[in-house]
Amino acid sequence: VTAAAAAVALSVSAGTALAQCDDGEMVIKFSHVTNSDKHPKGIAASLFAERVNTEMNGVACMEVYPNTTLYNDDQVLEAMLNGDVQFAAPSLSKFEKYTKQFRIFDLPFMFKNIEAVDAFQASDAGQAMKESMARRGLLGLEFWHNGMKQFSANKPLLSPEDAKGLKFRVQTSDVLVAQMEALDASPQPMAFSEVYGALQTGVVDGQENTWSNIYGQKFFEVQDGTTETNHGVLDYLVVTSVEWLEGLDADVRDQLLTILAEVSAERNAAVGEVDAEARQAILDAGGEIRELTPEQRQAWVDAMKPVWAKFEADVGAENIEAAQQINA
Ligand code: LMR
Repeated sequence: VTAAAAAVALSVSAGTALAQCDDGEMVIKFSHVTNSDKHPKGIAASLFAERVNTEMNGVACMEVYPNTTLYNDDQVLEAMLNGDVQFAAPSLSKFEKYTKQFRIFDLPFMFKNIEAVDAFQASDAGQAMKESMARRGLLGLEFWHNGMKQFSANKPLLSPEDAKGLKFRVQTSDVLVAQMEALDASPQPMAFSEVYGALQTGVVDGQENTWSNIYGQKFFEVQDGTTETNHGVLDYLVVTSVEWLEGLDADVRDQLLTILAEVSAERNAAVGEVDAEARQAILDAGGEIRELTPEQRQAWVDAMKPVWAKFEADVGAENIEAAQQINA
């Protein structure tokens, strides 16, 4: 595409605008499940494509498929191994079939904030995790931040007992299932694109997600309110196929990975802003946000933290220790 055509394609919409690829350009597909604007992943994926389409014009052309228009997170890694899609950035909860190492990110109250998550990911242990699926054909390239998760339901959630007996949508992760069971709630793993409908029709009572997802999917419209628990993290791994990446000419691969690294640094540094804007947008749209007193929050910690013990062998006691040192 020409730079002008790329700019037009990008400005058309937040939704499904695809770059117009020219003959001879290598088409690179990036599939994801969130909205494109006002969302950490959506913005980063669009910026990545914009830069590839400008700086690698004539060589490569990236098409971004947001909003589950191509694959959901349960399908996308399989599709990648089949060569049908080249990039995705599923949340770290979605890699269970390929590695158990990312379970540390799902453990409740493991990281106190996104800065602690960032520091852990930047450590040698965190960086090594990107290669944990290489023998299965998938290579992690960069971590992308989204933010801390909050709980919402069709009734006020102030103490952990309020969650008892409720059905909560969770991502497809055994840790998150165990987390909800620790609250005596009923976890319902479900694809992201189905959550709004499930909340609206009462198939589930509640959910956990970040401000940008609660805003972007309008979950707050079909919930009584959202409780600011910051109880866990939702972050992403930009992933590609080892075979596809190795098949690229070295200079093309280098340019692509350099652009991705720069986009990742830029957007990760700006994530706090996107997160805060989404929280504010929920309030502006009339959504209810409940804050907890330190005592109330401690009750959630006490109820959920016992889950760590169950997964310590999967994630490594030394990694838990490292995460706690970062929090301190
Ligand atoms: C979810 O399924 O709730 C998230 O992983 C969606 C996303 O990509 O942020």
